[in-house]
Amino acid sequence: MKITVIGTGYVGLVTGTCLAEVGNEVLCLDLDASKIAILNGGGIPIHEPGLLEMVKRNVAAGRLKFTTDIEQSVAFGQVQFIAVGTPPDEDGSADLKYVLAAARNIGKHMNEYKVVVDKSTVPVGTADKVAAVLQEELSARGVDTTFAVVSNPEFLKEGAAVEDFMRPDRIVIGTEDPKAVTIMRELYAQFNRNHDRIVVMDLRSAELTKYAANAMLATRISFMNELALLADKMGADIEQVRLGIGSDPRIGFHFLYPGCGYGGSCFPKDVQALIKTAAENDIKLKVLTSVEDANEAQKQVLLTKIKARFGSELQGKNFAVWGLAFKPNTDDMRAASSRTLIEGLWELGATVTAYDPVAMDESRRIYGDDARLTYAENHMSTLDGADALVIVTEWKEFRVPQFEEIKARLKSPVIFDGRNLYVPAQVRSHGLEYFAIGRR
Ligand code: UDX
Repeated sequence: MKITVIGTGYVGLVTGTCLAEVGNEVLCLDLDASKIAILNGGGIPIHEPGLLEMVKRNVAAGRLKFTTDIEQSVAFGQVQFIAVGTPPDEDGSADLKYVLAAARNIGKHMNEYKVVVDKSTVPVGTADKVAAVLQEELSARGVDTTFAVVSNPEFLKEGAAVEDFMRPDRIVIGTEDPKAVTIMRELYAQFNRNHDRIVVMDLRSAELTKYAANAMLATRISFMNELALLADKMGADIEQVRLGIGSDPRIGFHFLYPGCGYGGSCFPKDVQALIKTAAENDIKLKVLTSVEDANEAQKQVLLTKIKARFGSELQGKNFAVWGLAFKPNTDDMRAASSRTLIEGLWELGATVTAYDPVAMDESRRIYGDDARLTYAENHMSTLDGADALVIVTEWKEFRVPQFEEIKARLKSPVIFDGRNLYVPAQVRSHGLEYFAIGRR
């Protein structure tokens, strides 16, 4: 099948590449010429495990191409995926300007039946707006053709995006157009492992499904984060509680890890957008509003623990920070807890020496040349002369404990662990002070 993907961010590039991998011909469009230049030069503009190899393989096979040419891209695919960004507005609602601009461009140039697929996370009702824009453009040109709009939300996780796309739990297809259902079923047939994973539903339910999934996961995390605060006060161990409740199949083990708050491009934005959409429909989502509040508070939890241990006057102190990305296997620092921590430490007068296996360039891009933030060559060398170690992201290489060396290199033997990487008794047996999240 011939497919066009509009937008070469995480979702667009992964979608286009994985669809090419199973034999489709894919043309990816981006109006950002610098991104297309990187892609045409054999690179990728994001960090995502396994993606670069897959891009190269499919480009070499001639199945995957990149362009900035709108007319060419509209003419190319019978299926047109819209996978552009939906950044939050000032008020937290998703800004649809890129989605609607993409739809308008399709409408301006299409001359035959196309399936226009919303892959970006968009509020309920967006498909209707996309359809209206398409129709407006077709009518303006007097072109008489039909089209279908499909909502096909993406559930991929950064850092595991290729695997998530290639082996999906479910493929949600929202549309009222039977011909589009047939085309989408054919397109995704190769991703059905063992049993049919395609769930066909109406447009609005599909749009809501995406938000519901992310909101539910964010809720589990905030719930566990609050229980961890309680465990801290009560002398209980949240890790034991997690094992105790996760074994109930109705609850399950996934997304029950307490930490220093969730970040990334999806949870914070989608939770806010759903609250906003509900408010516009006169519904106050009380649970979700609290989930968001709890997460904002949780991003302060490491600072609170640092202040309790070192006081609020941190002039002259330096903290080693392990991990800048909002989670491992990505260089993404959007809404990352590391930013709340670093900026909070600065406000208290401290400086930071940070290390992240891939996100240090992104951090330099965000913070520029700030003398209060320096970068180390590896995680252990952040410790030299630092007053304490603060762990923000659970990269694999931080999990191997070298406690004697950590203790020797730090000025004071203190670890604040925002991701509960270690067994408290083991850390303490090396004479280190250990402050984790809800771990006695
Ligand atoms: C999420 C959804 O998982 C994915 O389905 C959706 O398509 C996009 O949003 P992503 O943002 O890439 O994916 O990362 P995810 O692995 O879900 O983690 C989000 C945040 O939650 C991270 O900051 C992570 O550290 C935090 N988290 C996750 C926890 O604090 N505890 C957990 O148990 C799980």
